Amino acid sequence: MPEYSPTVLDHFQHPRNLGDLPDADAVAEVENPACGDRTRLAIRVRDGRIAAARFRTEGCPAAIAASSMTTELILGRTLEEAATLRDEDVATALGGLPRNKMHCSVLAEDVIQAVIEQYQANTR
Ligand code: FES
Repeated sequence: MPEYSPTVLDHFQHPRNLGDLPDADAVAEVENPACGDRTRLAIRVRDGRIAAARFRTEGCPAAIAASSMTTELILGRTLEEAATLRDEDVATALGGLPRNKMHCSVLAEDVIQAVIEQYQANTR
C-alpha cells in the first residue's frame, strides 16, 4: 500500500457518513476516468445548507477516504460554499495524499459538483 497519512487510514478504516440517504434531495454518481473507480453522493438540503450527506464508493483507499472527508467538509455548508471545495482541499484535509494518488481526490470534487447540479435541476 502507498504511504498514507494517519487521517487517510482513519477515514478508510472508519468511513464517516457511509451509506444511502432515503430522503435525499439529490443523488449523483461519477466515475474517475483515470481508473474507473466510482462514487455516489446523496445530500439533504435544509434552509439552503447541506443537512445530511451519505456516500458509497467503489474504489481505492484514497478514494474512500476522500469521499468520507468530503461528507464531513460539506456538512452544514451552503451549496455555494460546497461548490467551491476543490480536490486539493480534500487532499489537504486528509493530511496529504501520495503523489500517485492525487487523482483519487478528483472524484470527490467531481461528485460535489454533480450533486449540486442535480439538486438545482431537481428544484428548478
Ligand atoms: Fe481510482 Fe484511487 S485508484 S480513485
